Amino acid sequence: MKAIIGGTGIDELYPNAKVYEIETKYGKANYIKEENLIIILRHGVNHAIPPHLINYLANVEALRLLKVDQCVGIYAVGSISNILLPGAVTIINDFIDFTKGNRLSTFSSLNNVFHIEMSDPFDLDLKVKLKKEASICNFPLGDGGVYICTDGPRLETPAEIRMFDHFGADFVGMTGCPEFTLMKEANIKYVGLAYSINWASGVNHKQITFLDTQARNKISQAIISFCIQAMSKI
Ligand code: HPA
Repeated sequence: MKAIIGGTGIDELYPNAKVYEIETKYGKANYIKEENLIIILRHGVNHAIPPHLINYLANVEALRLLKVDQCVGIYAVGSISNILLPGAVTIINDFIDFTKGNRLSTFSSLNNVFHIEMSDPFDLDLKVKLKKEASICNFPLGDGGVYICTDGPRLETPAEIRMFDHFGADFVGMTGCPEFTLMKEANIKYVGLAYSINWASGVNHKQITFLDTQARNKISQAIISFCIQAMSKI
């Protein structure tokens, strides 16, 4: 089975879709089913759950229970470098976890000790397949960039963004961690796609200006449609 984990835009794309709830040993997760694909609603029904309160373990465990072996995650971010301009989409190549340890971030526990390797944080084979599908259907998908994850829900200060820039981060978001790690721990082939909705704090402009709602929905829905099409062929 294949899956997508998405945030903004799914409710608008499938306003009448049946939302399923699945109980896992870590808690509940919500998803819809579309064309043989599972679509996990990362923020729950009606986008009610903020980034720092998402039950990441339940969402990934749900995929495991639903026998998902390949998955694409979609992430809204703010741009730090020119690798990803606002309005554009890219494959995420690597990430920095700058969350502060308040999120449950591993399936490892007492008597279940393991250490996963992170030299290739995302699945290389799935990346190649997505790039190929993007070129076939003329979907403008960039190739690369480093994601840095903060806890949110507040946005960053200009000094934080300057620091992240020095760290080598290209864009910043609030939901990639621990999702990226849990996917790898769950042995699900995974690729993250980032789309930018603003320049990060202090970059280029003094005030953050987000793409307007219409533009945001348009881009997130274009990505979801691309992912559905690509995953059904992969
Ligand atoms: N910072 C953190 N998360 C985000 C941003 C940002 O500027 N834009 C979209 N998600």
